Amino acid sequence: VDATLDLFHEIERLKKEKNAIILAHYYQEPDIQDVADYIGDSLGLAQAAEKTDADIIVFAGVHFMAETAKILNPKKKVLLPDLKAGCSLADSAPADAFREFRNQHPDHVVISYINCTAEIKAQSDIIVTSSNAALVVNSVPKDQPIIFAPDKNLGAYLIKKTGRDMLLWNGACMVHEIFSLEKITKLKIRHPKAKILAHPECEEPILHIADYIGSTTGILKYSREDSATEYIVATETGILHQMQKDSPHKTFIPAPPTNNCACNDCPHMKLNTLEKLYLCMEYETPEILMEEELRKAAKKPIDRMLEISR
Ligand code: 13P
Ligand code: SF4
Repeated sequence: VDATLDLFHEIERLKKEKNAIILAHYYQEPDIQDVADYIGDSLGLAQAAEKTDADIIVFAGVHFMAETAKILNPKKKVLLPDLKAGCSLADSAPADAFREFRNQHPDHVVISYINCTAEIKAQSDIIVTSSNAALVVNSVPKDQPIIFAPDKNLGAYLIKKTGRDMLLWNGACMVHEIFSLEKITKLKIRHPKAKILAHPECEEPILHIADYIGSTTGILKYSREDSATEYIVATETGILHQMQKDSPHKTFIPAPPTNNCACNDCPHMKLNTLEKLYLCMEYETPEILMEEELRKAAKKPIDRMLEISR
């Protein structure tokens, strides 16, 4: 890319010229969030993808999110700045192993977290995100056994919250699994008034000490409306950009991970850059493509989720 190019200006130009919309997740780098037309959590992004009348959806997020947008918009071009932007949760549930697991429990309803591949969605009865999971689990009749996949931490949290016993797939998010209870506790001693905000993908001991547990949108809303002035944030650091923008007078401290890395960046989310975003809009590649049969099968459980969440 020509170093003299003003990427912000070029991206705005391409949006208009191509009738393109940029949907970005809160874990994207600040520059990408600033050029996005819509920033949201997984549910908000799926709803925005369902509603848009743009010709091109540029998805600044990870592969399963762009795939969901394509499932909902077969006629639109869906672009992802870096096709390698995957997800450890989606990777933890390979389609064949999951089919075998499901076949061992044919009487179970399959509820899958949206952080999974289209192949897993196609094998699921209903999809959830972190913001509607409890609502969806509660909508299933009480005597109906449930498989929940692929996130065991979100699953365990839901079992506790809804009182429903569910069979859990053994997957986890690499970012939310590495928070250190010991380091967070020490931080809390130094900042006794700070509230702990956590994403339900975190492990149980972290959720146990949290003042609020929710999706990225939930965490952002809580920090905006709550009266405290300091927060320890146990989720990917990208969210801090909007938190700080919404509440400039408040202090947000990223929860420390067990390793010595100072940050909790998702290596997949952070593969996208402003430069790659510009290039993918200019050349309209890489594009998300999908077999129609798979798309239709994966759409059914997403539609059920969107229906319940309206
Ligand atoms: P939400 O933004 O839906 O809370 O999801 C978090 C996440 O880990 C997305 O990859
Ligand atoms: Fe997947 Fe975790 Fe990254 Fe979200 S933060 S994309 S769940 S690896």
